[in-house]
Amino acid sequence: MFKRVSGTKDILPEEISAWQEIEHISRTVFSLYNYREIRPPVIEDAGLFTRSLGEFTEVVQKQMFLIKREDETYALRPEGTAPIVRAYIENSLDKKNGFIKVYYMGPMFRAERPQKGRLRQFHHIGCEVIGSVDPDIDVEVVSLANALLVSYGVGGYVIKLNTLGCAQDKKELTNVLRQALQGKLQELCDDCKDRFEHNILRVLDCKNESCRKIVNDAGLGHRHLCQECQAHFTKVRQGLDSLGIAYEVSPHLVRGLDYYTRTVFEISHSGLGAQDALAAGGRYDNLVQELGGSPASAIGFAFGVERVLLARGEVPAAGSRDLVYLIALGPQAKAYGLTLLAQLRQAGIPSDTDYENKSLKGAMRSANDLTARYAVIIGENELKNNTVTLKDMQEGRQKEIKSQDLIKELKA
Ligand code: HAM
Repeated sequence: MFKRVSGTKDILPEEISAWQEIEHISRTVFSLYNYREIRPPVIEDAGLFTRSLGEFTEVVQKQMFLIKREDETYALRPEGTAPIVRAYIENSLDKKNGFIKVYYMGPMFRAERPQKGRLRQFHHIGCEVIGSVDPDIDVEVVSLANALLVSYGVGGYVIKLNTLGCAQDKKELTNVLRQALQGKLQELCDDCKDRFEHNILRVLDCKNESCRKIVNDAGLGHRHLCQECQAHFTKVRQGLDSLGIAYEVSPHLVRGLDYYTRTVFEISHSGLGAQDALAAGGRYDNLVQELGGSPASAIGFAFGVERVLLARGEVPAAGSRDLVYLIALGPQAKAYGLTLLAQLRQAGIPSDTDYENKSLKGAMRSANDLTARYAVIIGENELKNNTVTLKDMQEGRQKEIKSQDLIKELKA
């Protein structure tokens, strides 16, 4: 017996309506904001991620699913931002369009230790805006994430907002932090001792109590920011305030990927346990240029769909479906039933029939299980009279009607 790979999930037909609903809502909201879909491949040159996310980030160091073929090393994409920037440059969208607003949905892969809300194949619904440094676009992007959550029917989340500043400010923050932590190295957790060497900003959002205390005592705040980055952040905050979007400024939020500059945000939900981030994003003003494009500022975010579904909880299934279930009893009726089924489908009426030779009772049970709206029964009598029995499964009423009136009746 083969089993699914640890940290992956089969999304079964009974779960699919929740997924389709989230996807449908997302498409509607994204198009309200004039974002168009983009679908890059799930497999990319591994170097794209090393270069974009940073050589010393956890994702690149420990979590990439790598595939080696001849001289190439590919990666199953751990995230969508780098592939979209690659596609933007490779397809000359920087020259053709300059400014683009795109959204995407699909699987991402990270070899993490699986636990609730943390999978090895999970799904992102996200967006990227490339080609604008205007703080108003930061406001649009954060408010779009908020609008999606409202439309998904998820409440009780917190939007945490921070700014890292430009590349120069990040360097400044790195220096200040290095000085502040130098004398406290022994008190840091093992991960942070390692981060101190290679990825020091990540010490800021370590969840370990002792690391948190050291960071809080250092009182870093936003002093490392240059005037322009200060002003950018103020504008973003003012914009969100004017839209009435609640957020918390979280000065220690840095995010785990190196490409971020200026605005970063994370949306957390207390109902999710240890893996409490529903979505995350931010600006990446240097990535397009670093990957070989002309300079273009950018911002985006991604939702973890599995976590959105967890936070949303059970949503009552939407009553009965518009399905017609045809029950034909006996070989002659079955032969006629097949042509009728084809006519129903041609007329655009979703319909199905019993392929297991069930009794009337058994077939009615199937119609019930499928939450069919109508059952259409053809027995010996109906066949003789050129009629069918149409049963309204919701109201329990049934009547015999002429076969040729069935489609008209159902459409009415
Ligand atoms: P990220 O924070 O790595 O950001 O992932 C975004 C979201 O994906 C997380 O907040 C979480 O909900 C979900 N997620 C991440 N890892 C897992 C996992 N192993 N299992 C289940 N869900 C997971 C990015 O990937 C950036 N590309 C977001 C972005 C877009 N920034 C700018 N544009």
